[in-house]
Amino acid sequence: MNKNGKIGIFDSGIGGVTVLREIIKLLPNENYLYYSDSKNNPYGDRTVEQIRQLCDQIVKYLIQENCKLIVIACNTASAKALQYLREKYPFMIFIGIEPAYKMVYDYAYDKPTLIMATKGTIDSEKFNSLIKKYDNHKTYLLPCTGLAEKIEQANQKEIKEYLKENISMYQGKVKNVVLGCTHYPLIQEEIQEILGKVEFFNGAPNLAKHLKNILEEKNMLNNGKGQIQFEDSQGLECKRKRFFEILKSSISAE
Ligand code: DGL
Repeated sequence: MNKNGKIGIFDSGIGGVTVLREIIKLLPNENYLYYSDSKNNPYGDRTVEQIRQLCDQIVKYLIQENCKLIVIACNTASAKALQYLREKYPFMIFIGIEPAYKMVYDYAYDKPTLIMATKGTIDSEKFNSLIKKYDNHKTYLLPCTGLAEKIEQANQKEIKEYLKENISMYQGKVKNVVLGCTHYPLIQEEIQEILGKVEFFNGAPNLAKHLKNILEEKNMLNNGKGQIQFEDSQGLECKRKRFFEILKSSISAE
C-alpha cells in the first residue's frame, strides 16, 4: 500500500476546509491535496446526475495525482454521489461527510433540533434514511438555498441578512443546531448571534477520527512529514489565499 500517497479531499469550494482542519489536528503528517470546484459551485441545487459527473471528474484527477484515499468534504456530494463513486472505483477508499444527526441522537436526543443543510442534501435519499433512523420528533429541517454561495464569497453583510430572515424564527425554539453543510461552521458565530445559546453539531471531528482509524488499521499512515496542496477548478488565487488563511487561523487558535 502506498503510504506516502496523498489524501485527496474535495468540496464545491473552500467549505471543506472545515473538514480538513479537523483532520490535520489528528493527522498532521499526511500529504493532502485539496480540490475546490469553484467553477461549478454551488452544488446544492444540482441534479444527482450533474453532481455524479462533477465528482467523477474530480476523483479521476485525484487518482491521477496518486491519492491513497479520498475524503468527500461536501455533504451534498456525499449524499448524492458517495455510493456511486464507491461502486465505480472499488479499489479506492472513500470517506464522506454527513450531517451529524446521529451525534444528536447519541448526546442530546430529547432537545429540539434545527438541521441546516443544502436543498440537495435535504432532498437526498441518504439524508432521508438518516432522519428516519435517528428521528427525535422535534427536528426542523431548513434547506438554506444560496447560503453556501454567500459564505463562499465571504459576503458578511448578505450572510447576516440571510440568517436574520431565515433563522430568527427558531430563536428560543431549538437547542441543537446541526451544521449540515461544510461551509456553515465558518459562520457559527453569526448563527449563534441570532439563536443565542445552542449546541452545535458538526460531523467533521468524527470523520477525522474515522479516517485515522482506517489509516492505522490498513497500515497506511505516512512515515515522513506532510504537505498541503490546494487546487481550484478556476485557478482562483483568492480561493487559495482564503483557504490557507482559515487553516492557519484554526491551527493557531488551538
Ligand atoms: N459545502 C457543500 C456541502 O457541504 C455544498 C455547498 C454548495 O451548495 O455548493 O453541502
